[in-house]
Amino acid sequence: MLHSGPVAALAHAEHSATRRFLFAAEPPPARTPRTPTGTLTLHGVTLHNLRDLDAAFPLGVFTAVTGVSGSGKSTLVTRVLAEAVQDRLGAAAARPDTDEPGDDHDTGPAVRARLTATTGLDTVDRLVRVDQKPIGRTPRSNLATYTGLFDAVRKVFAATEEARARGYTAGRFSFNVPAGRCGTCQGEGFTAVELLFLPGTYAPCADCHGARYNPETLQITHRGRTIADVLGLTVDDAAEFLADVPAAARSLRTLKDVGLGYLRLGQPATELSGGEAQRIKLAAELQRARRGHTLYLLDEPTTGLHPADTEVLLRQLHGLVDAGNTVVVVEHDMGVVAGADHVIDLGPGGGAEGGRIVAAGTPAEVAAAPGSRTARYLARYGAHRDRS
Ligand SMILES: Nc1ncnc2c1ncn2[C@@H]1O[C@H](COP(=O)(O)OP(=O)(O)OP(=O)(O)O)[C@@H](O)[C@H]1O
Ligand SMILES: [Mg+2]
Ligand SMILES: [Zn+2]
Repeated sequence: MLHSGPVAALAHAEHSATRRFLFAAEPPPARTPRTPTGTLTLHGVTLHNLRDLDAAFPLGVFTAVTGVSGSGKSTLVTRVLAEAVQDRLGAAAARPDTDEPGDDHDTGPAVRARLTATTGLDTVDRLVRVDQKPIGRTPRSNLATYTGLFDAVRKVFAATEEARARGYTAGRFSFNVPAGRCGTCQGEGFTAVELLFLPGTYAPCADCHGARYNPETLQITHRGRTIADVLGLTVDDAAEFLADVPAAARSLRTLKDVGLGYLRLGQPATELSGGEAQRIKLAAELQRARRGHTLYLLDEPTTGLHPADTEVLLRQLHGLVDAGNTVVVVEHDMGVVAGADHVIDLGPGGGAEGGRIVAAGTPAEVAAAPGSRTARYLARYGAHRDRS
């Protein structure tokens, strides 16, 4: 813990990232909104509390969708917009690769039938949702496996003289493959302990003590480290250790860029926070360096994030827009909304009282919109000073 005590004392805690946000004197400087490259329009949206709604999403910019709880934000963005784009992109793209199978996204024809038309979709060639759902459901997945970094690491071990002499391929260094992993825990590093009157609990594996590999695999070292040692490195340390392996270095750099330098490569997916999982997805996305036009959809991405983490996330999202993509976020954080290029404010209330677009435009325009409950909160963030 960096600080505990009265809030005033925190003003002097030099290294606390929170300090800056609690005592920030000025709102962030207003910026000029980007100019859209096109518009994606949904016509006749009727779902949940949305009734025959027309909504226009500018392309090539950062859009924030706001409104009170129950006003219809998630319905519009993660159901109807996502659905319309998936429909257009076809079955191949229907399951974005950052999603897990069995997600609860409703892709039934009932949703599609409630949208009379869309225009402007032809320039978007990919849809990605960046959410806070776990990156995997078993302890065998982790940030190294998810980002593809682990493939590069396994190749490094397979290329050592000793591995070649023994005929160990990259597969030998996977804990999903029986040959190289610990047989007792099957590569999980721990085993379930059944206690008579208590729920099951886990204890480190008695054979590998958490290393996950069998002793033969652990005889192979690269610069004095076993593959288990490498999985125990933080992203920061691994970036130094693997600096001369281009595929690994690229992956590690993007993980650092999203503020995850402190995470250990082998930390199980099941032990990551929602915000960490989300930033790993974003890093995996950033390292792809694709051409083309991707539409990124995020529903309340800053929920639960520390303001310092929100800043990191935002920098990356704005980077995606600068690279020619479109970002649409459902967002309650007015700091994030004030920094958007375009705002769509739903409401005025929740449920049957909502479902309409109360205001849409630049943050400055929405901050001045009569009848928008968001306006006065947005105005406090200096959006009214924007120079558009
Ligand atoms: N599956 C559903 N079936 C019927 N009605 C739904 C369904 N999901 C949401 N609704 C209703 O539709 C309205 C809009 O819900 P939605 O989830 O889009 O709101 P939201 O603006 O995202 O709210 P929040 O900020 O709380 O996430 C609400 O009145 C909600 O009760
Ligand atoms: Mg919602
Ligand atoms: Zn074991």
